[in-house]
Amino acid sequence: MSVVVLISGRGSNMQALLDAGLPVGAVVSNRADAKGLRIASARGVATRVVEHKGFPSREAFDDTLAAVIDGFKPRLVALAGFMRILTPGFVARYSGRLMNIHPSLLPAFPGLDTHARALAAGVKLHGCTVHFVTAELDHGPAVVQAAVPVLDDDSEDSLAARVLQAEHRIYPAAIRWFLEGRLRLEGRRVIGRDLDAAEGALISPDPEQ
Ligand code: GRF
Repeated sequence: MSVVVLISGRGSNMQALLDAGLPVGAVVSNRADAKGLRIASARGVATRVVEHKGFPSREAFDDTLAAVIDGFKPRLVALAGFMRILTPGFVARYSGRLMNIHPSLLPAFPGLDTHARALAAGVKLHGCTVHFVTAELDHGPAVVQAAVPVLDDDSEDSLAARVLQAEHRIYPAAIRWFLEGRLRLEGRRVIGRDLDAAEGALISPDPEQ
């Protein structure tokens, strides 16, 4: 019933999963210096490092990564700030049980530097998306999204911090729903059964004020 979490750095989303009491069986990083590895170890969670640098190809790295993951027999593989592009073969192997959290309201701003791009685009709402992973980067079916306002005096950092708080709320919820068998995929749409996190739409600026 466990989850294997893949990280590359800070690991705050991974930590949110642990804080939520989710059954994280292992944390795997492609970087030995990922701060999140120390957090996981301190909490008694198994950690592994598969350094991408030593591999001749993406396929070779992904094969070894998959072997390490499969050793923990996870039901779900959760990407949490894992900064590697995965091969189609890897994505297909975990089809329907590979999730990612992305710091934008997809399909807006796939890829990197999402907060700077949101500011440059002048949007009033920004946010984050938990989605199932498909072969196309940051394009899989959304499980849950959270919107946050973009304030006039926001910097990239202040906006990122607001989005990150929302990330820490929606990723544990999405994974809990998955493990409880409450998510169903219909084409591109993820249909949830009895989900309790719908708190209504966030509209910014609030026309009621
Ligand atoms: C998060 O913003 C996540 O959405 C993105 O990378 C960042 C990882 O942060 N994919 P952390 O390592 O979970 O703190």
